[in-house]
Amino acid sequence: MKHPPMQQQMWSADDARPQGAGSAGPAHTQATGASRPLPQDALIIIPLRSAVLFPGVLSPVTVGRASSVAAAQEAVKRELRAGFLLQRDPQKADVTPSDLYWVGTAGPIARYITGQDAAHHLVVQGESRFRVLEFLEGWPYMVARVAMIEQPRAEGPEVEARFLQLKERVGEAIGLLPHMPDQLAEAVRGIESAPALADIVASLIDAKNEEKQDILETFDLVRRLDKVIGLLSARVEVLRLSKEIGDKTRAKFDERQREHVLREQLRQIQKELGEGEDQAADIEELRKAIEAAGMPEEVLKHAERELKRLQRAGEGGGEYSMLRTYLEWLTELPWKPAPQRPIDLAEARRVLDEDHFGLDKVKRRILEYLAVRKLNPEGKSPILCFVGPPGVGKTSLGQSIARATGRVFQRVALGGVHDEAEIRGHRRTYIGALPGNIIQAMRRAGTTHAVLMLDEIDKTGAGGFHGDPASALLEVLDPEQNHKFRDNYLAVDFDLSRVMFICTANVLDTIPGPLRDRMEIIHLPGYTEEEKIEIARRYLVKRQLDANGLKPELASLTDAALAAIVRDYTREAGVRNLEREIGSVLRHVAMQIAEGRAQHVAIDAHDLAPILGARRFENESALRASVPGVATGLAWTPVGGDILFIEASKVPGSGRLILTGQLGDVMKESAQAALTLAKTWTGESLDKVDVHVHVPAGATPKDGPSAGVAMFLALVSLLTGKPVRSDVAMTGEVSLRGLVLPIGGVKEKTLAALRAGIRIVMLPQRNEKDLEDVPAEVREKLQFVWLDHVEDAVRFAIGDLKPVARN
Ligand SMILES: Nc1ncnc2c1ncn2[C@@H]1O[C@H](COP(=O)(O)OP(=O)(O)OP(=O)(O)O)[C@@H](O)[C@H]1O
Ligand SMILES: [Mg+2]
Repeated sequence: MKHPPMQQQMWSADDARPQGAGSAGPAHTQATGASRPLPQDALIIIPLRSAVLFPGVLSPVTVGRASSVAAAQEAVKRELRAGFLLQRDPQKADVTPSDLYWVGTAGPIARYITGQDAAHHLVVQGESRFRVLEFLEGWPYMVARVAMIEQPRAEGPEVEARFLQLKERVGEAIGLLPHMPDQLAEAVRGIESAPALADIVASLIDAKNEEKQDILETFDLVRRLDKVIGLLSARVEVLRLSKEIGDKTRAKFDERQREHVLREQLRQIQKELGEGEDQAADIEELRKAIEAAGMPEEVLKHAERELKRLQRAGEGGGEYSMLRTYLEWLTELPWKPAPQRPIDLAEARRVLDEDHFGLDKVKRRILEYLAVRKLNPEGKSPILCFVGPPGVGKTSLGQSIARATGRVFQRVALGGVHDEAEIRGHRRTYIGALPGNIIQAMRRAGTTHAVLMLDEIDKTGAGGFHGDPASALLEVLDPEQNHKFRDNYLAVDFDLSRVMFICTANVLDTIPGPLRDRMEIIHLPGYTEEEKIEIARRYLVKRQLDANGLKPELASLTDAALAAIVRDYTREAGVRNLEREIGSVLRHVAMQIAEGRAQHVAIDAHDLAPILGARRFENESALRASVPGVATGLAWTPVGGDILFIEASKVPGSGRLILTGQLGDVMKESAQAALTLAKTWTGESLDKVDVHVHVPAGATPKDGPSAGVAMFLALVSLLTGKPVRSDVAMTGEVSLRGLVLPIGGVKEKTLAALRAGIRIVMLPQRNEKDLEDVPAEVREKLQFVWLDHVEDAVRFAIGDLKPVARN
């Protein structure tokens, strides 16, 4: 490379005025120089400190020197191509023609953007090589007469062979560079012209500027291709070698440098194109958020890596928005250890009492649980699980606990969750992937000082095709594992160990065993009539007054009205429908008051019918009265206890037992056993009849055996033609020898009997101990008949015998 300086002139980088001999006065030159036309074969020259522009390459260029700024502005203004020349010493500020290489690339300035500082940014489209013939003077920037170098013809086997070889090498290099942006790799692969490929590779390759300049100056295409292939092969070799010997450090270092350069260029281009502004602000914001998020070391590193990827990804691309969303998720999670407030037990008790009426046993268990946590905050406390029918206050107790402990409450609905990914998230490779609902709840909570309520954990679908939600939940709840909970989307560990988890369920038996083992089960069986009235009086009426924009002075419900709503318009273990009915009544009142028809409305029991309609629940057991073959059973259901009528009838046949209705296999066995027993009881031959037993929907199949006594009595009643007393309800399992075996759910079942207006309950003798769970007011209102043997039941409910109450 030889560029005999043809003219010696001194150029200042600051004002770019020629200061050499023979020039006109500086002031004159500057005033007129800019507008002086250029000779036909002259170009405005912009020196580049440390980059070689190649034809066919769009490249960002930053100019700072006043002469360069003036040159660029002039070229843009006059829509002229500029010539770009590499300077020999990048450090040198004041360059003269002898400081420059004399071969460069000419091209138009596609964009010109004035930067905030002294730097101005250009996007330059390299078009063709040129050689400087001579530098001219008289302009406030460098001007040179040049000769354009024609693009060589790319023909012949010589070129073809090298082109193929270069392509192959490019493929190898791309394969070895993990951080190569995809679009770039695609673009390079798609190039079909040998000189273009050579130039682009030369421009992208991680080589010294002198080496690049040498390629620029090699006009002969075959030799140029050889040089590029040589350079690229060396790079590929280095990459491969370092990969092979496992010495990744150097490779990484190179990579990083290269990546940095590429990213910087990309940033510049985007900035020039006016696209960068938002993105730069975006990235800056994310960077700050990452710094502020208080992530653990490992996560922080990961986030920074992803931020770099984001910078590389062009805005508008799918990758950009994916990464951005991801980083937003990452930064918005509560990483910082939350300040742990010691639990104030007195305050907790106050809050629990304030929010919920009754539930003394439940509250006591909760306070015990909190006390243990207070004494040993780091300890592995079990997970509370509230089990009970709908509307008994499971969810709202969870909210109370949060309030009592100063934690944030968040609810995760698990009902109907079948896919593990709903809990643990989808990998980011899925389109539209999101974190699972645990991490989502953590983001909503904004702190790990939270109560996370896993609602309806019993309704989680059993695993299957999409993995097992239960095993994911196990990982969430297990103190051994949950300090490193891994969501598929986040792909970094999140510490859940400080979160207080509370589960709710209607039934226990659908909760997988391992999960149940982690839990401390607290039953909420449902409320008595009195409790419901009290809850209504203290909480529900107030809440519904508020909800309907009424003040207590304007409307009220008498206790009799509340009792009537409880008894005649609702039949439930909890208080949800009760609250709804109270709401309906108050809406009606609000209407009257709004229309000015009343000042104050007090609703009494007899006012209800016009508002709520006819009583919805009559005394069913009385309605079904005295038909032989009907007995009233007591069942346990997920929504609390319930009564159910078991109906037996005879049809001509051949001695078969026909079962219809809601019957699990267990129930079938009980029915068969009951029939066998009933036969011996009556001694009647059943060869010419089929016995049909119908059990209506409602009971759970698993509860089947507890209908044994009722089925037996229905059958005996049928066979003897004597009705079963309609004011008696019964539950109990029956053995083949006629012994009455104990059952579960005594409290729910007795509450249900009372709700249905039944006064006498027959229970297995061996359940007598469970009576202590039954609220006193229920015990007082009911009469209990204890059964050892089915004979006891027959004697009391069919035979003409006096009740034998033993409680
Ligand atoms: N003992 C109580 N004292 C005051 N209000 C109560 C009591 N029990 C329940 N409630 C109220 O009844 C309503 C229903 O309770 P909640 O939503 O907690 O029921 P749940 O047990 O979670 O039911 P589900 O199983 O249907 O989710 C709430 O408004 C709650 O405040
Ligand atoms: Mg609930």
